[in-house]
Amino acid sequence: MEATGRMALCVCSLLVLLTEISAKFINVPSSIRHGIEGKSLRLPVEMYFQLDEAEIQGTWSHTTTSGIRTMLVTFTNQSSITDMMYRNHIFFKEPNMSLLIRRLNQRDEGDYHLNLNIEFLNNSGQVFKEERTVRVTVDVPVSTPVIEKSPSFAVVEDKANVTWTCTVERGTRVVFQWFRDNVLVGLSDRYHFSKDKSTLLISPVKKEDKGSYRCVASNPVSQERCRRAVELTVYYGPYNLEVNSDQGLRTGEVFTINPGELVFFDCRADSNPANSYVWISKGRNTTITVGPRLEVLSYRLAQAEDYLCRAFNNVTQKQDETQFTLVVASLGTGKEKHTQDYNAVSPLAVITVCSLLIIGGMLLVFFRKACHPKRVLMRIYNRPISDQKRPHRSGHEDATEDFGIYEFVSVPGKMESAQASCRSLARLESVQDMHTTIYDVIRHVPETPGQSLLK
Ligand SMILES: *[C@@H]1O[C@H](CO)[C@@H](O)[C@H](O)[C@H]1NC(C)=O
Ligand SMILES: *[C@@H]1O[C@H](CO)[C@@H](O)[C@H](O)[C@H]1NC(C)=O
Ligand SMILES: *[C@@H]1O[C@H](CO)[C@@H](O)[C@H](O)[C@H]1NC(C)=O
Ligand SMILES: *[C@@H]1O[C@H](CO)[C@@H](O)[C@H](O)[C@H]1NC(C)=O
Ligand SMILES: *[C@@H]1O[C@H](CO)[C@@H](O)[C@H](O)[C@H]1NC(C)=O
Repeated sequence: MEATGRMALCVCSLLVLLTEISAKFINVPSSIRHGIEGKSLRLPVEMYFQLDEAEIQGTWSHTTTSGIRTMLVTFTNQSSITDMMYRNHIFFKEPNMSLLIRRLNQRDEGDYHLNLNIEFLNNSGQVFKEERTVRVTVDVPVSTPVIEKSPSFAVVEDKANVTWTCTVERGTRVVFQWFRDNVLVGLSDRYHFSKDKSTLLISPVKKEDKGSYRCVASNPVSQERCRRAVELTVYYGPYNLEVNSDQGLRTGEVFTINPGELVFFDCRADSNPANSYVWISKGRNTTITVGPRLEVLSYRLAQAEDYLCRAFNNVTQKQDETQFTLVVASLGTGKEKHTQDYNAVSPLAVITVCSLLIIGGMLLVFFRKACHPKRVLMRIYNRPISDQKRPHRSGHEDATEDFGIYEFVSVPGKMESAQASCRSLARLESVQDMHTTIYDVIRHVPETPGQSLLK
């Protein structure tokens, strides 16, 4: 008893060893095969030995999905016996060990086992055992899917849910995929798929859900895409409200523009449907204009005003607003075009105005202090007319007026002479002949009016 047991153990271990070694004699390319209902399916077997050097003996059997096992074929290298029940259904031709199943139906699903004994003729009776299993599925190809959306109309963001359904008339083991603008719809807290993904519930709908939807139905043997994409329109916004301008200089919320410049401000926000825009002056708390564009023409320097743009989506009933400060100032290094025009005129004007102001101011101060020209001139004027030289008075009804004007207007750039004249005027107040003194003063003035007066 013990001897036989040990013997059996030995044989077993030898067999296990041999089986492991012999794994290279045949090959079944894939352990799972997907068949199409009504079509045939071949379970191929590749052999890695010379048929004429070996004697073979084997079987093909089938275990259904419910676990019923049936012997299909028994074969050697020269002959085969196919079960009568399957004679028209399967095809086997030795010595090729591949099995062909014809006109597949659902009952053909399951595991197909190949058991093989190989004995090489030149080898001392050693038998190599081979065992392989192929799982077979049988599917009906999917028909073209049809996509539907509920509700069919456009929806408002955050308020509505949308249900997508994808259906096929035919097909087994169908799974669905959803594409928005040709990108696979991924996972999200707002997306709820049915088990086979035939329905997709979006709850609630957001702006990013808008787009063109398609579904794809597939199973192991086929894949079909719906012919027609369905658009999802979402009402949303306003988002990303902002004010822009091609002109002026922007620093954060402050736009600086040149005085006298006509500036356009554009208010934009992302929204569906289009927003309505309102421009409001904050200071005056009044609506300036309706529409996305604001026109500002400003002259006053150092003027600052706050403007507000309000965007309103009348479908979502949401609004947003943004404000900015407009400052009017000379932009030294602002926009080339505008400053150029401005600069072409300004240097001369500015210098002239400034020097005139300075000189005028100085003169005013000086005269107040020392000259009191009015008093002097009045005194002169009050002298008898006979004392004055007549020709000089011709064409000048009021000499006092002339003196005053010339002193002021023609002095610029001649500060010294102006001061000198004033000093002399003050000094000579007590001198007898006032006329000469006055005319001397005016002689320093180089312009023509002074000359004409001298003659
Ligand atoms: C099949 O096996 C027999 C031995 O049983 C052998 O004589 C014969 O040559 C083999 N046939 C082929 C085609 O290998
Ligand atoms: C078995 O037959 C099929 C079809 O006739 C063929 O494609 C395949 O190569 C054969 N296999 C062997 C091992 O000869
Ligand atoms: C959308 O679905 C949520 C649940 O996911 C529900 O509470 C809500 O009432 C639905 N809204 C509409 C408009 O059907
Ligand atoms: C909503 O606004 C759009 C454009 O801004 C306008 O055409 C439409 O008439 C408005 N609808 C209502 C109900 O006010
Ligand atoms: C602006 O005017 C509106 C009415 O036109 C008023 O309701 C609001 O209180 C005012 N705001 C300020 C800051 O005065």
